[in-house]
Amino acid sequence: MSATAKIESLETIVSLAKRRGFIFPSSEIYGGLSSCYDYGPLGSELKRNIKNSWWRSMVTLRDDVVGLDASIIMHPKVWEASGHVSNFSDPLVVCEKCALRVRADHLDQQTDKCPKSETKKHVWGEPRNFNLMFKTHLGPAEDSASVVYLRPETAQGIFVNYLNVIDSTRVKIPFGIAQQGKSFRNEITTRRFTFRTCEFEQMEMEFFCVPETDEEWYQYWRKTRLDWFLSLGVEPERLRLRDHAADELAHYSKACTDIEYLFPFGWSELEGIANRTDFDLKQHALHSGKKIVWRDQVTNQEFVPYVIEPALGTDRALITFLIDAYNEEEIDGNKRVVLKLHPRLAPTKVAVFPLLRKDGHPEKAEEIYRMVREVYAAEYDDSGNIGRRYRRHDEAGTPLCVTIDHQTFEDETVTLRDRDTLEQRRVKVSALLPTIQEQFGF
Ligand code: GAP
Repeated sequence: MSATAKIESLETIVSLAKRRGFIFPSSEIYGGLSSCYDYGPLGSELKRNIKNSWWRSMVTLRDDVVGLDASIIMHPKVWEASGHVSNFSDPLVVCEKCALRVRADHLDQQTDKCPKSETKKHVWGEPRNFNLMFKTHLGPAEDSASVVYLRPETAQGIFVNYLNVIDSTRVKIPFGIAQQGKSFRNEITTRRFTFRTCEFEQMEMEFFCVPETDEEWYQYWRKTRLDWFLSLGVEPERLRLRDHAADELAHYSKACTDIEYLFPFGWSELEGIANRTDFDLKQHALHSGKKIVWRDQVTNQEFVPYVIEPALGTDRALITFLIDAYNEEEIDGNKRVVLKLHPRLAPTKVAVFPLLRKDGHPEKAEEIYRMVREVYAAEYDDSGNIGRRYRRHDEAGTPLCVTIDHQTFEDETVTLRDRDTLEQRRVKVSALLPTIQEQFGF
């Protein structure tokens, strides 16, 4: 049986994201800005949790990867050396009637009618290459000497710090350097929400290895990265690995695999895992005049390491997790929308409710809420009836809800309600934190 997308239209997620404060159009009071978005209270927590889960698995729990946080604006020579000044472009076509600009390789997705043509058909000109890097000036003089770029990938910050890292740490080959941060590309976007934007975040890791071992590490990272999505609950049937054909490869890579997800608009790239060979280190050695090698401590042999790079877009990961977690269910004749987000990703882990707004319930609930939030992101919620509060937290992806009621004052127990199974059980207040920990596994 072939897989189907979790939701039919991206619109479902766009409206949930706006309604519940995950993602808003940027500068909305001024009419919004094309392809720019802001993360709201729930969205910023979700994004932080995704970044933390990535960092935990890629850096914290590994002995062979260290972190880095490089500057967005780098020396302009970096982008000459990396090939971005000459190669980082998309073929662009412009409609001769209405001046609409579209990526030549995305023409098949173009469904708009031309408002200026009698036949309503666009009249496309010849494709032209259009460099995707955002240019700006460093300092007050706006001349060619002050031109700098906003980085189009975080990877180069890692390559130019290779010598700094090996000189200041005890890393031994093979090892990786990981980084998260903003990247910028002047993309012709395809109105797919945050799937492709001009300002986005990346989580990238460059893994430096002995040249002859590159294939082995390439295979290792393909599997490890796919497993990461599975470990966070993404449905296996909506994930696949797709190897690039030779004519799809970026100018720096020998092989590349995309981890693809089945979005409502079809299978599309979620993450890329590339074998970048020794291209970048050699280019930076050439352009900087520095010796950039690895020296084997035993044999004194020098070589330029090969690099395997898993590169993921944080924003793209975020809509993937939102889409995949989205469920509409019917309970007792009522529809519920529930985000079955993995507990590690859920913006709020535990919601605490007083059953009544009197009889000491609020005070007791507040006390328990304060205890829980020391350990887990928690929310106190006393508005509307309990059913409404459950629905609200189902839609926000909160895995557990705790209710304080009359019985709490008799036997020091609370009701613990599970978002996914809807099971409700009574738990001693003193056992609440260990019970949550047992369920979450953290
Ligand atoms: N350093 C390699 C590199 O940047 P890429 O395939 O161009 O490779 C890696 O980007 C990942 O970054 C993509 O798989 C995607 O998740 C994300 N990404 C790239 N361009 C993006 C954009 N314009 N908007 C959102 N995410 C983007």
